[in-house]
Amino acid sequence: MRLAESMLDRKRFEHCVGAARTAAAICRRFGHDEDAAYLAGLAHDLCKRLPPAEQFSLARSFAGPLPEVVFENLRLPHGPAAAVYLEREGLSSDPAVLEAVAYHTVGKAGMGPVALAVYIADKIEPSRRDWAQGVRELLSAGAFDGSGGLGRLATATLETMLDEISASGRAVAATTLVLYNSLTGKSVSEWPVR
Ligand SMILES: [Fe+2]
Ligand SMILES: [Fe+2]
Repeated sequence: MRLAESMLDRKRFEHCVGAARTAAAICRRFGHDEDAAYLAGLAHDLCKRLPPAEQFSLARSFAGPLPEVVFENLRLPHGPAAAVYLEREGLSSDPAVLEAVAYHTVGKAGMGPVALAVYIADKIEPSRRDWAQGVRELLSAGAFDGSGGLGRLATATLETMLDEISASGRAVAATTLVLYNSLTGKSVSEWPVR
């Protein structure tokens, strides 16, 4: 907690606490590891303020597959960079935590429940994004409870986000579509791996 506070500005720290609480609440609701979700939520943006060269260099050391775009878009390497940082500093070696932190920026088809919970929490935690309000309300009202609930929550989050992105005229990231397709069983493609 203190490390996250010292490595982030106030706004980002609040976002990380919000993401940690939201990810833990999602995991509690659907019966997954809420402690792993809390830690990953708190740590997911830990490397966001590092100089870009350092972010890219840490991300290059990440052992898992990453799409090429991670090394081409400055907004993306802080995920895998933080996973490497957490492991190097002895802060976590839990594969579920590291996966969640690494893939919160680009997602990954078939990622585990903790990673999916953190991916969602990053988008819908209370301190940001008006568009997520509806999803947050549905979640707390129990609208996604029952079998396959985490997948339905993830699908609803992505659909709302994709609507918002297209309404604002921005382009949808290919990696987001890969995750969306993998959740909904629509034509699944894979991102090109470095
Ligand atoms: Fe992030
Ligand atoms: Fe974030």
